[in-house]
Amino acid sequence: MKKVYLETFGCQMNVSDSERISTTLAKDGFEMTADETVADVVIFNTCSVREKAEHKLFTRVGHVRHSGRKPVVGIMGCVAQLEGETLFKKIQGVDFVLGTRAVGRVSAAVDASLSGNGKIVDVGERDDDYDWTVADTHRHSPYVAFVPIIEGCNKFCTYCIVPFSRGREISFSAKNIVSQVADLRLKGVREVHLIGQNVNSYKPESDEGLERLEGKSAFTKLLRATAATGIDRIKFTTSFPRDFRSDIVDAIEDHENLCNWVHLPVQSGSDRVLRGMKRGHTIDKYFKIIDRLRSSPRDISITTDIIVGFPGETEEDFRDTVELVEYCGYDMAYIFKYSPRPGTPAFEMEDDVSPAEKTIRFLELERVQRRVQNERLKRYLGKTVKVLVEGSSARNDSLTGHSTCHKVVNFVGNKEMLGEIVEVEVNEVKSNSLFGVLKQ
Ligand code: SAH
Ligand code: SF4
Ligand code: F3S
Repeated sequence: MKKVYLETFGCQMNVSDSERISTTLAKDGFEMTADETVADVVIFNTCSVREKAEHKLFTRVGHVRHSGRKPVVGIMGCVAQLEGETLFKKIQGVDFVLGTRAVGRVSAAVDASLSGNGKIVDVGERDDDYDWTVADTHRHSPYVAFVPIIEGCNKFCTYCIVPFSRGREISFSAKNIVSQVADLRLKGVREVHLIGQNVNSYKPESDEGLERLEGKSAFTKLLRATAATGIDRIKFTTSFPRDFRSDIVDAIEDHENLCNWVHLPVQSGSDRVLRGMKRGHTIDKYFKIIDRLRSSPRDISITTDIIVGFPGETEEDFRDTVELVEYCGYDMAYIFKYSPRPGTPAFEMEDDVSPAEKTIRFLELERVQRRVQNERLKRYLGKTVKVLVEGSSARNDSLTGHSTCHKVVNFVGNKEMLGEIVEVEVNEVKSNSLFGVLKQ
């Protein structure tokens, strides 16, 4: 049996695609291995959102090539989709290149490469090519499942490569999503994540499965329909501010199993920069959403993404971002330095914030966020949170899992609790996780 090693970079869409890649390969007679040194085939599922992510790929392929062995090397994901055939020239030793919508055809590419059938490239972008099936054997967790509901992006934010690497938005049928969730529940899955580049832009071709449900948008109706399956917990990510309607919060308030966590990337606290990024909303509109979320009795945790050093960002613009972070009180924020991506509109703009200045802004924002975050997280002290037990440590009796607000929670307990939802009283708060004791 040929062994395949698969390494994943990038976002949850790639993690989800990798689950499908592994499941397909295993079904077709390959053995997945976590040990790269024994693999006959090495596949990289790649990300190109920032230059750094791409560099990592070049380093990793170089590493495999110089290891003395000669495994088949495949490049999949966003870099594959963008570069296509040119990757054979850019990186030596690559055998196949499969784009973001060719996941379902991975076994054929591996087979052909193993029999030495030349270089294979498949970056077709037919809408019906995306494989929506939720992997049933090779998921990252037996209790948590990623369910893609929308794939691709039509927003074309000026800095972003994703609309080019993932193609146009397509939404999966609501009826199928709901039946997948119901099926996962029967198989013992406790938590589903409805995923997509922008989940709240969800727009299926028909409203089959959403009839008679409350809500102004198909996404809100879909939330209500999945909630009605009775699955324990539903999380969703990522939300796009421009399309975020307050009825999403109404749905969360009506259904206990719609979790109290919203990831709402803002990118910048300056209207001027937001315009340059073509995000399609103002800070004022964003604050209105934050205020609605904060007014909810559900204690909704809010997280975000921010870019510092976008072309033309002045010290004053940056101050606006610092102020925004202070105002919003995020439970967590991913902060990035702007990275010019060839082919995007912002690539044509002058990258005029120096690398040193980007670093200064990055570090300052990180410091402010850490302070705000530590303060915010104190509200969990003494509170009881519901935790889905997802992992245990081999050495001692410590267990770990996520709360409904998507915080990592660590506590002492019995391994038999794996897969259960338990109550933990929080007694210590760290930047990235909570600690507590099990309530009997
Ligand atoms: N669809 C999501 C984001 C997907 S990409 C949204 O619009 O909210 C994930 C994050 O990567 C983005 O939110 C952004 O903060 C960051 N990002 C995207 N392109 C980038 C670039 N060129 N340089 C730096 N960060 C970038
Ligand atoms: Fe990129 Fe903007 Fe689409 Fe998000 S919404 S994936 S940032 S283009
Ligand atoms: Fe990266 Fe592609 Fe996701 S570029 S962030 S893996 S959609």
